[in-house]
Amino acid sequence: MTPPLLTRRVALGLAAFGASPAANLLGAPAIPAPAGHAPERMVLTMPGNPATTQSMTWETAAALTSPQGQVAKISAHPNFEASATTVQGKVNATDAGQPGSYLVTFTALEPGTRYLCRVGDGKAWSEWTAFRTADAGPAPFRFLYVGDAQNSIKSLWSRTIRAAYAAAPDARFIASAGDLVAEGHDVRLWNEWRDGLGFISATVPSLPVVGNHDLHRPPGTADAKNVLSVSPLWHRLFDLPDNGPDAAEMKGQSYFMDYQGARFVVVDVNVYANEEFDPAAKQRVWDAQIVWLNKVLSNNPNQWTIVLQHQPLYAMAKGRDYQDMRAVLGPLYEKHGVDMVLLGHDHLYSRSHKVAQGRVVDPAAAGIIYAISVSGPKMYKVDEPNRKLMAQVVDQTQCFQVIEVAPDVIKYLAQDADGVVVDRFELRKSGKSSTYVNQAPRA
Ligand SMILES: [Fe+2]
Repeated sequence: MTPPLLTRRVALGLAAFGASPAANLLGAPAIPAPAGHAPERMVLTMPGNPATTQSMTWETAAALTSPQGQVAKISAHPNFEASATTVQGKVNATDAGQPGSYLVTFTALEPGTRYLCRVGDGKAWSEWTAFRTADAGPAPFRFLYVGDAQNSIKSLWSRTIRAAYAAAPDARFIASAGDLVAEGHDVRLWNEWRDGLGFISATVPSLPVVGNHDLHRPPGTADAKNVLSVSPLWHRLFDLPDNGPDAAEMKGQSYFMDYQGARFVVVDVNVYANEEFDPAAKQRVWDAQIVWLNKVLSNNPNQWTIVLQHQPLYAMAKGRDYQDMRAVLGPLYEKHGVDMVLLGHDHLYSRSHKVAQGRVVDPAAAGIIYAISVSGPKMYKVDEPNRKLMAQVVDQTQCFQVIEVAPDVIKYLAQDADGVVVDRFELRKSGKSSTYVNQAPRA
């Protein structure tokens, strides 16, 4: 006879998702997956409203004909499997000699709710892994921000991202500010990136930014110029919002997401940052992106606006300066009241005071905080020209940042890979204006 508890859970599952419950039997022993069918390297993302939608990508060594996922509200009781809903997945790619790549998207989820999900082919499944949907409206949360991973990813980046997760296991997502790998076309490096994260990439969604290394041409291509679109590998890993500029090349490269009172605008700024592209294509993307930025920054009901991009407006690495980008994006960000810009590329740590028109301004005046960070082991020398804008500069140090966002305050904390606090500040908001409080520890 079916226990009453099971009956209730099945009914809940049906009501919540309008689909049939999972076929798993209570108490049935787990069956080992056939060789090559075990899901690996799962990556969670938020392609739509983060309160209702999550996507998972994964790989298998063998080709799957029926990729699928299951999702259920979280429970410590093992019977939760009976309330799971099965969702059809799709094949991302099955190139000869490469692992199969798959995607499933869970929709119509409830806001502010913890779920368990797994992926597979209906017979061989991954482990159940937990995620949480965003609340429907403004509410406090934390997220992780890291700079370039790029080199020795498995060997030396993994410790940073694992320390970050240990410091903030409740982080709602990981914002990676570009150059996640040194060569975007090299699957071995993406494997290192996913292996460095391990289970973390399946339980904390990723919010990746496109860096210049993500736009390198495939190895062996004669033309040294970069290309405007990322490697197909990017799209195999990341199912991202399709709400970017009116330029096909930027699909999944520039996008925005509203999360509990904050708008996160992820911008592929490579066209503004001295990278070599076909001139006509570069101009077209340049213009389309400005139109889009004006739209998403002006039509913004959120209390906070945070921009994520790779190359910095106020560079700190020796020999770098992005005048064109600063001239076009600086006034635009200031005009629309951007609060904070999170960056990478310079392979060092630096964080500005509140800045407007190239100068440090009063803590209560209108202005923007710019942070540059690095999580991998590649380091550059610090240059002087923009040091006068900075509240904190740290070199030769792998770092991660835990950022708490509440309706009235942002609390920013940077730590090194060993957990030592290297920087801290707050932005306190009242109406449309904010007050900046520097709390950086002295060297
Ligand atoms: Fe870079």
